Amino acid sequence: MKGLILSGGKGTRLRPLTFTQAKQLVPVANKPVLFYGIEALVEAGIRDIGIIVGDTKNEIMEAVGDGQRWGVDVRITYIDQPEPLGLAHAVLISEGFLGEEPFVMYLGDNILKSGIHSLVKEFEERRPNALILLTEVPNPQMFGVAELRDGKVVRLVEKPKQPASNLALVGVYMFDHHVFEAVKAIKPSWRDELEITDAIQYLVDHGYAVQPHLVSGWWKDTGKIEDILEANRLILEGISSRVEGEVDEASRVNGQVIIEKGAAVRSSIIRGPAIIGAETEIVDSYIGPFTSIQKKCRIVKTEIEHSIILEGSEIVDIGSRIDDSLIGREVRIFKCPPKPQVYRFMVGDKSEIGLK
Ligand code: G1P
Repeated sequence: MKGLILSGGKGTRLRPLTFTQAKQLVPVANKPVLFYGIEALVEAGIRDIGIIVGDTKNEIMEAVGDGQRWGVDVRITYIDQPEPLGLAHAVLISEGFLGEEPFVMYLGDNILKSGIHSLVKEFEERRPNALILLTEVPNPQMFGVAELRDGKVVRLVEKPKQPASNLALVGVYMFDHHVFEAVKAIKPSWRDELEITDAIQYLVDHGYAVQPHLVSGWWKDTGKIEDILEANRLILEGISSRVEGEVDEASRVNGQVIIEKGAAVRSSIIRGPAIIGAETEIVDSYIGPFTSIQKKCRIVKTEIEHSIILEGSEIVDIGSRIDDSLIGREVRIFKCPPKPQVYRFMVGDKSEIGLK
């Protein structure tokens, strides 16, 4: 079985971060989202993985490399998708790479807690033409939605205004080669994309076996900031403590906390679950639960909780607690002198700032 990870797309919902970074490389618990997908495939025994890339190709290739870091026998092939013309389009252009072999298609911004090992096994044992993952969500209008009858898939609609159920399509799918017949037959949707939901509907309509599987563990599509923070929280909930950096006597570290090599914690409180990246300095500060701080940051006289701070950022002497925030790379947040009483900003396009 082969793997196909989709890592194109523009990530418009994550601007301004995605002006300068691929959305699949935004870190969750200090690891790019995309790596969770690669690991899920490798863990399920898949070694031959194609990654669909678009505008951010170079950045993705640099971060992922040839795949060797996940095992000597792991091979990564990059497949260009010059325009984001839809998930089914990504399948269409991958026919040369996939050939006749069944494959797992994995959306590069999805994280599934329980991995996909048992699902791949189920697919290999029962050999339907497609296996789709579904999960109950409170806002089905935001997803592809499946309608089941007597346990069988009867209808799939992409982002329906009036959803027929609350079962969303999770961004992991398994197909055999019949999917190529489907992606060649369907037409672009109202948003001008070849939709994978339409391709699966084609399989249903033409008598192919499309097996639904309800996901029990949590699943996150990290397309928006709230989802990234939530995924960060869920991943951090499962970490175990590891202290490779320095923590001085005046500091307190409680709960599950990872402090990476070269990090220094001085006169601070770290309350886990939290992760402090390599060579980051935390001084006179409080880092609360569900916070991931990447490498080479400097946090001084500041309180932060339930947030993600990307590499090289510096936050110094902030009067109130920073909460629910996603702060990009090499950002500086600091206190202005007391007079004049002003705010001073130098903020990129499409940024968001919340003031009390
Ligand atoms: C895509 C699919 C949708 C699926 C979702 C899961 O949506 O089109 O059917 O439910 O991924 O993450 P998109 O992220 O392109 O809006």
